[in-house]
Amino acid sequence: MAILVTGGAGYIGSHTVVELQNAGYEVVVLDNLSNASEKSLQRVEQITGKPVTFYKADILDKAAMEDIFSKESIDSVIHFAGLKAVGESVQKPWEYYNNNITGTLTLIQVMREHNVKNIIFSSSATVYGTPKQVPVTEETPKGECTNPYGWTKSMLEQILQDIQKADPEWNVILLRYFNPIGAHKSGLIGENPSGIPNNLMPYITQVAVGKREELGVFGNDYPTPDGTCIRDYVHVVDLAIGHVKALKRIEEKAGFGIYNLGTGKGSSVLDIVNNFQEATGVPIPYSIKERRAGDIPENYANAEKAYRELGWKAQYGIKEMCEDSWRWQSQNPDGYGE
Ligand code: NAD
Ligand code: WQD
Repeated sequence: MAILVTGGAGYIGSHTVVELQNAGYEVVVLDNLSNASEKSLQRVEQITGKPVTFYKADILDKAAMEDIFSKESIDSVIHFAGLKAVGESVQKPWEYYNNNITGTLTLIQVMREHNVKNIIFSSSATVYGTPKQVPVTEETPKGECTNPYGWTKSMLEQILQDIQKADPEWNVILLRYFNPIGAHKSGLIGENPSGIPNNLMPYITQVAVGKREELGVFGNDYPTPDGTCIRDYVHVVDLAIGHVKALKRIEEKAGFGIYNLGTGKGSSVLDIVNNFQEATGVPIPYSIKERRAGDIPENYANAEKAYRELGWKAQYGIKEMCEDSWRWQSQNPDGYGE
C-alpha cells in the first residue's frame, strides 16, 4: 500500500516524502509543478536512497487522478497541493478558490470512488484570524480570514469535517501549521520561492546570499516587546515528522482530529534577524517599513494536543532553523535553478 502525497514536490511536501520513506512507507507523489521543481524529488531520492514514484498531474484533472488511483494501490492521502501566496490570492480570488477548493473536491471525489477514505490536510494557523488570546489551542474559535487564501483553508477544513461526519469510515486529520522555516540537514532540499519572497525567512536568506540588498521589517509599532510581530516558527523537518505521526493515528482509526503544529514559542521579526546573524555570522541589513496589510500582531501555538494524541513535539529551536535555512540557501543560491 502507498501514501499519495499531493504537492509532494513542494517545500513541506518534499521534506515529508523524506520522512515517510525513512519510516518505511511507499510514496507516490502527484504535483503539477506550478510552484515546484521535479529536481526536489531527485534530491529526495539522493537523501533517502529510495525511488519516488512521480506523476506530473493536476488535482483539478479528474481523469489524471483516476488513472493514478487505478494504477497505484493508495491507502491514504497527504494533501499539500494548493496555491499559498496570501497577496496573490487577494488579486486572484477565483484562481485560489478554484485551485484549492475545486481541486480538493475533485481529489475527494476520486478518493471516494476508489474507496480511499484517509486524508491528512495541510491547514494553517491563518484559520484563527486575529485570535483574542495567545497561545491558541484547537478549541480557540476560528476567525475572520484576511484573504482568500486563508478562506480556502478555513472552508476546506469545514468541508472535510462534514464529509467525515456524514461517513464515519473517513479518517480526516487537519494539521494547522504555524510558520514553517528551515530545511533538511543535508542542504539538498529547502524552500524555493519564485520571484520576490513573501515570507520572512526566504527573504532573509536571499539578503544573506546577496540577492537582495536589505530586509524590510514590516512595522515596529505593534503592541509587542520590540514592536515587531510575533509568530511561532517551526522547523520543516519537525512538521514533516508530524505528518508521519498523524499517519500512525489514521492507521489507528482517528475519525476526525485537528492539531496545531508549532513549537509553542513566539519569536519576533527582530528575534529571527538576530538569531540568524548569530547562528550564521552573516549580517542582515534591515530597515523599518510600513506595516503590511493583514498582518496580526501576535500568534503562537499551544501544541499540547499534538503531543498528547500524536506523540509529536517540535525538536528544533530557532538557531537550528536559521542554520539549516542558511545551509540550503548558501549551497543553492538559485534554489533548484529553474
Ligand atoms: P509549496 O507551494 O511549496 O507546495 C505546494 C505544492 O502544490 C507545489 O509543489 C505546487 O506545485 C503544488 N500544486 C499547487 N496546485 C496544484 C494543483 N492544482 N495540482 C497539483 N499540484 C499543485 O507550498 P508549501 O509551503 O510546501 O505548502 C504546502 C501546503 O501547506 C499548502 O497547502 C499550503 O497552503 C500549506 N501551508 C503552508 C504554510 C507555509 O507557510 N509554507 C503554512 C500553512 C499551510
Ligand atoms: C512573518 C513576519 C511579517 C517578510 C504567512 C501566511 C500564513 C502561513 C504562513 C500559509 C510578519 C514579517 C515578512 C518581510 C517582514 N502560510 N515580515 N518582512 O504572515 O505570519 O504567515 O505564512 O498558510 O497564512 O500569512 O508569515 O513569513 O510572511 O511573515 O517584516 O519581508 O515577518 O510582517 O510579521 P505570516 P511571513
